[in-house]
Amino acid sequence: MTFDRSIKIAPSILAADFANFGAECAAVEAQGADWIHVDVMDGHFVPNITFGPATCAAIRPHIRGVMDVHLMIAPVDPYIQAFADAGADVLTAHVEAGPHIHRTLQAIRGAGMKAGVALNPGTPAVAVEELMNMVDLICVMTVNPGFGGQKFIDMTSKVATLRAMIGDRPIHIEIDGGVDANTAPLVAKAGADVLVAGSAVFKGGSVDNPIPYGENIRNIRAAAEGVWT
Ligand code: DX5
Ligand code: ZN
Repeated sequence: MTFDRSIKIAPSILAADFANFGAECAAVEAQGADWIHVDVMDGHFVPNITFGPATCAAIRPHIRGVMDVHLMIAPVDPYIQAFADAGADVLTAHVEAGPHIHRTLQAIRGAGMKAGVALNPGTPAVAVEELMNMVDLICVMTVNPGFGGQKFIDMTSKVATLRAMIGDRPIHIEIDGGVDANTAPLVAKAGADVLVAGSAVFKGGSVDNPIPYGENIRNIRAAAEGVWT
């Protein structure tokens, strides 16, 4: 993975057909997705259950680009190696998931992955201030994690604070939750470069009719990049 700050659209397969993940990943990539965002939930850290490392391993051969795995689980550490074995490129853990996020991030990098840290809407930017030299991505949640299709919570000032904190370091700012063509410009302007979108990408399309995926991706990207022109 090479680092750059261009806008990257990362469809969340939480909004895809769960019986057809491989074909869904291939379809959104063919339609212009940059990364694939994979939401792992445990019914404990968040009130919903999705799937674990075995499903990630099954999906992996169907993804040509970056597999971006978002862990909404606690604890994290016992599962890091399993997600590395599954082929995750980026592994993101929540700062709220346990008392030892520093150790968790070290272990993620130690297992050969890019290390991400996620912040719930109620967690301030300062929670990651001491982690700047050990993270590759900071995920700003713009919904309370657990479900797709929720309303965007404006975290623009937190994104701007993090952007200043990051300075010249090669750290991505990712936005997750309620991202669409209306909300993307707000966060892009504040300094985000990875935009996760579930419902806004998968709406109106299917594996058999993937053209709407492409239209949705292009609309979000154009709205986000519009702020730079
Ligand atoms: C929420 C997940 C998100 C979610 C985004 O807990 O982390 O990735 O799938 O879905 P939308 O874009 O529908 O808000
Ligand atoms: Zn997510």
